[in-house]
Amino acid sequence: MESLPPVGVSMEALLAALRAVAEPTRLRLLILCARGELTVSELAQILGQSQPRVSRHLKLLCEAGLVDRFREGSWVFYRASAGQAASALARHLVAACGESDATIALDLQRLAAIKRQRAEQAAAYFRDNAEQWDKIRSLYVDEREVEAALAEIVRAAAPRDLLDVGTGTGRMLEVLAPAVGHALGIDLSREMLAVARVNLERAGLENGIVRRGDMYQLPLPDGSFDAAVIHQVLHYADRPAAVLFEAARVLRPGGVLVLVDFAPHTLEFLRDEHAHRRLGFSNVEVDEWCVDAGLVPAPARHLPGDPLTVVIWTAWRPVAATAAAATGAAVREPAVTR
Ligand SMILES: C[S@@+](CC[C@H](N)C(=O)[O-])C[C@H]1O[C@@H](n2cnc3c(N)ncnc32)[C@H](O)[C@@H]1O
Repeated sequence: MESLPPVGVSMEALLAALRAVAEPTRLRLLILCARGELTVSELAQILGQSQPRVSRHLKLLCEAGLVDRFREGSWVFYRASAGQAASALARHLVAACGESDATIALDLQRLAAIKRQRAEQAAAYFRDNAEQWDKIRSLYVDEREVEAALAEIVRAAAPRDLLDVGTGTGRMLEVLAPAVGHALGIDLSREMLAVARVNLERAGLENGIVRRGDMYQLPLPDGSFDAAVIHQVLHYADRPAAVLFEAARVLRPGGVLVLVDFAPHTLEFLRDEHAHRRLGFSNVEVDEWCVDAGLVPAPARHLPGDPLTVVIWTAWRPVAATAAAATGAAVREPAVTR
């Protein structure tokens, strides 16, 4: 059970939040928004209600500070509020509700089906594009510049070992493995891993391996790597904060997380034709997620391009790290799936 709302929430704000959530549809919406970033059409589909009706309820939840709304191009996402005082109340209510109620259980089943569908679409895209991925990537920005900047950051950190989350064709391993003792690439797609293995063999990399795994549940124990890299993966995630949290979990104290992705942009076709879910990320949101994951963000480095700007975010796990960010994370044995 979550802690009670912190001191500092005014009685007026608390009553407004309680009033907003004291309605069945809005309580259901709050519970769903606590489980990921969802669009109105996805929420309407789960609830079996019209989009205008769902939008009206969402508006009230947003006004009460329980849910955050953010627009990206033509899509609008909703998620349970992270920054506002009322979010403590939201977490408390969601935890109190559990999943035993029949209506909530059905909502969660439908949510799971939607997430499965999204994952299948992304997997199909990656399957179809595995071999051409390197070519597609080069359309966006000059990768050599990005790779050089990334290699410089990693070399300066002098990690013994490195984890590449969402390794794809293994390109980051090719670039970074020479700077470390041991490098592991994790990816969900068997097709991508097949391409990566071919590439690593061809490059003669003996200290770089790939394994199948999910970035939301890395098959690795806490504190097992000095460096983790997430290169051009986060914009596919429907729960980007969870991906960062999981990468942070496997970092040792003093370890570094390097995230490479796009600055906010408006290229909708990346979403329509290339399965991107997010059109870039702001420094503020990435820094917030890092702090929430127990990391200390460093200033981001921008590599402006036309039309896309690549950003390299770096964040460190403090040496005197508490296990706070990793609390509750189960230690899993590596799932070796060749
Ligand atoms: C655009 S590719 C980037 C690959 C690589 N990081 C690079 O920059 O060359 C994104 C990769 O993320 C992987 N991916 C997507 N969802 C994933 C998940 N849940 N867990 C692990 N990998 C995932 C995809 O299979 C794909 O290989």
